[in-house]
Amino acid sequence: MKRSKNYKFQSQKKKSGKALTISLIISGTIMTSLVVWVWFNNWDIEKSYTRIGTVIGLIDEVEPGELSEPEIDKESIEEDKPEEPIEEVIEKKPKKEESVKYIEGQKLPSEPTYIKGVLIASKKYPLPSTYAPGESKEAREAFEELAAEALLDGFKLTAFSTYRSFDYQTGLYQRYVDKDGEAEADRYSARPGYSEHQTGLAFDIGELDITEDWASERFGETEAGKWIAANAHRFGFIMRYPDEKEHITGYMYESWHFRYVGVEIAESIYKNNSTLEEYLEI
Ligand code: DAL
Ligand code: ZN
Repeated sequence: MKRSKNYKFQSQKKKSGKALTISLIISGTIMTSLVVWVWFNNWDIEKSYTRIGTVIGLIDEVEPGELSEPEIDKESIEEDKPEEPIEEVIEKKPKKEESVKYIEGQKLPSEPTYIKGVLIASKKYPLPSTYAPGESKEAREAFEELAAEALLDGFKLTAFSTYRSFDYQTGLYQRYVDKDGEAEADRYSARPGYSEHQTGLAFDIGELDITEDWASERFGETEAGKWIAANAHRFGFIMRYPDEKEHITGYMYESWHFRYVGVEIAESIYKNNSTLEEYLEI
């Protein structure tokens, strides 16, 4: 009897010891997961919470740039968010030389223009208003490869504006004209029908968590901006509006705007420190 009582007591002690161990393991695992999750989100508690909500489907609204590319509803961002945030103070350096101008009274064509097999959208070569190819799959794949390699070097790149419809560009350009006047807006924003974004081949690139440098010359001075300027050509992209080339391209320096042209052409333009206009001799 005494032995059996003792045995029961031992067995209960064993059981509660086991329960304690299990609950310690569970709470330890939860705590570790939480710490890892917050670390993964750069110790940003709010972001960690938002992302948990998003992952389990509780929170619908996600700020652009909060998640990696495939999870963003690009369609709605493109339609809701201007390429260059309207408040952005774009440093407007005085023009050094007379730059390419729009052709007075030019009508939009019925077909897009290809020169040497390259689709061109510029102040001289507009697109049909009906031209609406969407984002290029080939350019997107090249961008994903570029972004993956940039990540290995510690840069989280995102494309915050890619394909833009004729109608979207119409609203965007008008907002800039209202803000800065036509002459200034024409130096950094394309009129509807003239934007390379309408080709689906232009990618505005920035760092995922550094939205304040999106569509800003500052991006070109960051390590990420320098990395992409030096490596984009290997993936078929060119910096479309380089510094000091406004007289050729028609637009001020845009350290963030890259155009997909394929590796061969991109390498040639990069090595010659030139522009698409110079490459195409137009
Ligand atoms: N910012 C470039 C020039 C565009 O509007 O297409
Ligand atoms: Zn752009």
